[in-house]
Amino acid sequence: MPTQLTEERIREVNTRYHDVAADGYDAKWGIDFGDVGQVQVLRKLRKLLGHELDQGFERSLEIGAGTGYFTLNMMRAGIAAEATCTDISPGMLKALQANAQRLGLKVRTVVAEAEALPFEDGTFDLVLGHAVLHHLPSLPRAFAEFHRVLRPGGRVVFAGEPSRLGDRIAAVPKRGALMLAPAWRRLVGARPTPVPRAGDHDHDHELERFVDVHAFEPGQLERHARLAGFRDIRVRGEELTANWFGWFNRALEASAEPADVPLLWRRYAFHGYLALQRLDEALLEPLLPPAIFYNLLLSARRP
Ligand SMILES: C[S@@+](CC[C@H](N)C(=O)[O-])C[C@H]1O[C@@H](n2cnc3c(N)ncnc32)[C@H](O)[C@@H]1O
Repeated sequence: MPTQLTEERIREVNTRYHDVAADGYDAKWGIDFGDVGQVQVLRKLRKLLGHELDQGFERSLEIGAGTGYFTLNMMRAGIAAEATCTDISPGMLKALQANAQRLGLKVRTVVAEAEALPFEDGTFDLVLGHAVLHHLPSLPRAFAEFHRVLRPGGRVVFAGEPSRLGDRIAAVPKRGALMLAPAWRRLVGARPTPVPRAGDHDHDHELERFVDVHAFEPGQLERHARLAGFRDIRVRGEELTANWFGWFNRALEASAEPADVPLLWRRYAFHGYLALQRLDEALLEPLLPPAIFYNLLLSARRP
């Protein structure tokens, strides 16, 4: 993880990288605003909020909302009434507004850094985020802002944060897939992706390795929340076998021309992932320590 970049440079790189990524983002990450996406988002929120989810939230604020995966699915499910989405990348928020328009949803978008939120104290009853904390250069400042803009009693929830150990473990199936990729491509009849020549590549894609500035131990996340003044803090882990399976298949697929990957294979990869996700949730998540899982989830309350 690069430590030599200044905070300002990390924000600048994140903005550029995500502006460039915005157009193809939903296709690349399988972001869905139909039933599948809604089930995925609600499953995570249920783990974080339990029965409080059923009451819904009057005023929610999403940090690093990207193209709207969480908030737009929450709105479709009727659990976010007046929603505000922020992001450091104007390109991402433009894609979010396009998604909202397509879905017939009205959402406020504001370009803002997580560490300097342009809202009054105590404005929101829920602050949330998905896959964003690991991009933030100053977590103490960001958590202080989440606390400030929440009303007393309000909830903060984050999901999809990479765990340090889980990340290392996930490198094993990725490496395995790279070794097996030529044999797999022959089996499914797919051509390899062309190797980019020097100068072919958009420079901004090369920024990828600089945008992820943290992978977390569960205690670190807990500490940031506590020092900012949050209480009822809970950090849990999710996805283990589902993630190994997912990364293995994703690495195989990335080695082939996308048009050559058979539909049957894509169906097998998708349904296999969902089945293992259910297995992880039912058997492994209650038993194993959070640190071992690929994703961490944090929930807390402003007293
Ligand atoms: C991995 S994407 C996740 C997007 C969305 N939450 C999702 O789950 O699809 C991370 C998002 O965080 C945003 N981001 C990065 N650094 C940020 C910062 N300092 N303040 C606010 N947003 C930031 C990026 O622009 C990007 O949209």
